[in-house]
Amino acid sequence: MCGIVGILGKHEAAPILVEALKRLEYRGYDSAGIATVNDGVLDRRRAVGKLVNLSDLLVHEPLLGKAGIGHTRWATHGAPTVSNAHPHRAGPIAVVHNGIIENFRELREELAASGFSFVTETDTETIALLTQKYMTDGMAPVEAAHKTLSRLDGAFALAFLFEGEDDLLIAARKGSPLAIGHGDGEVFVGSDAIAMAHLTDQITYLEEGDSAILTRTSVEIRNADGEIANREKRTIQIDQTRVDKAGHKHFMAKEIAEQPTVIGEAIRHYLAADGSKIALPDPGIDFTQFDRVVMVACGTAYFACMTAKYWFEQVARLPVEIDIASEFRYREPPVGGRTLALFVSQSGETADTLAALRYCEGKASKIVSVVNVPESSIARESDVALPILAGTEIGVASTKAFTCQLTVLLMLALAAAQQRGEIAEDTLSQHLADLRALPGLLNATLDREPTLRDAAHNLSKARDILFLGRGTMYPLAHEGALKLKEISYIHAEAYAAGELKHGPIALIDNKVPVIVMAPRDALFDKTVSNMQEVMARDGKVVLITDKAGATEASDGVWETAVMPDVPPLLAPILYALPAQLLAYHAAVAMGTDVDQPRNLAKSVTVE
Ligand code: F6R
Repeated sequence: MCGIVGILGKHEAAPILVEALKRLEYRGYDSAGIATVNDGVLDRRRAVGKLVNLSDLLVHEPLLGKAGIGHTRWATHGAPTVSNAHPHRAGPIAVVHNGIIENFRELREELAASGFSFVTETDTETIALLTQKYMTDGMAPVEAAHKTLSRLDGAFALAFLFEGEDDLLIAARKGSPLAIGHGDGEVFVGSDAIAMAHLTDQITYLEEGDSAILTRTSVEIRNADGEIANREKRTIQIDQTRVDKAGHKHFMAKEIAEQPTVIGEAIRHYLAADGSKIALPDPGIDFTQFDRVVMVACGTAYFACMTAKYWFEQVARLPVEIDIASEFRYREPPVGGRTLALFVSQSGETADTLAALRYCEGKASKIVSVVNVPESSIARESDVALPILAGTEIGVASTKAFTCQLTVLLMLALAAAQQRGEIAEDTLSQHLADLRALPGLLNATLDREPTLRDAAHNLSKARDILFLGRGTMYPLAHEGALKLKEISYIHAEAYAAGELKHGPIALIDNKVPVIVMAPRDALFDKTVSNMQEVMARDGKVVLITDKAGATEASDGVWETAVMPDVPPLLAPILYALPAQLLAYHAAVAMGTDVDQPRNLAKSVTVE
């Protein structure tokens, strides 16, 4: 998390830094700050809360200078206060940091013993102080920064600015992404290319352990061993248009509404031109080479994997193991040959997922990622990166990225079934025809919004809510509970419907609404039996089902939301929409900050 930017430019840096930070605010919004050097004088401005507070401060207390660095923070060490906000300054140095310095306590003790005192609770301040110490010892800025870098353990992306140096920036990365943007007589640094997309399309990605000495006319990159390194300059294509809400009250509402369109695009992308089979983009994947698939992700992306496990096992008869990246990376799982390691990530920068991918390098026979950001670290480090084509997702709670992930994973499972001879041609043709019809069904689902809004208003009064589902509705129950928690702050949990009686049923009373996700499929009767057990104990049920399900089972139910009929294989994609809409309208009713809920950030680059 945290976004960092830097600029050595031709124009006043402050407004350009703020615009770049706006593009990085998805990484955190606890505080923001910038520092500039103007005629050799280093100065900074910082404000708590969203970037708009920093912009307001700059109106009253402008900051001049054509060289600068900026930061938007997701707090790790120390509360979101002005003194903990970046840039951190020690004498002639200002530094911005994304990541965590794991040995900061030892460094703090060492600095304290040398007489340095601390004014913040952050790990970053030790970087500024250490650099100051080396400069006090007589080192020049570049040497002092490199000496400091050699002392740091953990994951970081850093940019340093120095008093008296109007034409010097030092950037470094280890574990957290950092890119350099090349302008005409200007140079930029950013946590990602999007931050610099309004400035340049010429980007160099720093690699692990790289540091860069930047002036307006030169970029010198050194690798972890201090040797000069040649890193490719790429021309990137990033949508330059500022993303807007297109008339919706929130980005989340817009992104929910976009799903029929973006899913339609994803389906077209993975279908052969004549629509008769799945066609994976080059270099393709040969599923006959694998005995199993290991899928790893975090949060919502993990629930996409959980759903895909059902598809891969049922349709392609390929065993799938799924895991949360933060667990997978440390439990040293055996990943033999003939294993396809598959990583799912909207941002492509999630630290734990990236670490899990790196764990599989050299062990799995192929590393594939399903990502939304094609230039991301996870995409770049995979053998094959499959785009989900959801377009930029701004709302912190993932919606369209989730359903696009599901769509691509389903098509991947069908491709596996096709290649492994596990699916009859006419069955595959039927699934593909169903997929082509899916956007229409999703539009019809969005028409159910008024019913879901009413149900959500009732739910918003609850303190605790349970979600139940069976089969592919079980991961969906998890996704529904996660969405509700993160934006409405209502406590919600998901259970496999059949698991309820093994403990959680003790929670049921007339104050705990239970949302049951159950299309009229082969498992419907089983789920309805569990729903009856809830109602027999005074539980208030919201049933999300289809017409046949509502006819059979809505007696005694508190609220029923009727979805369009959908082929069972596609049901998880369609039933994601009512889960999202319930969470969205509950959050609106509660008056929370829907697009930037408390404590969260869109891209989780620390573990
Ligand atoms: C929830 C949500 C998060 C992300 C998770 C992984 O709405 O967005 O749970 O799914 O942080 O992020 P990515 O997909 O970027 O790896």
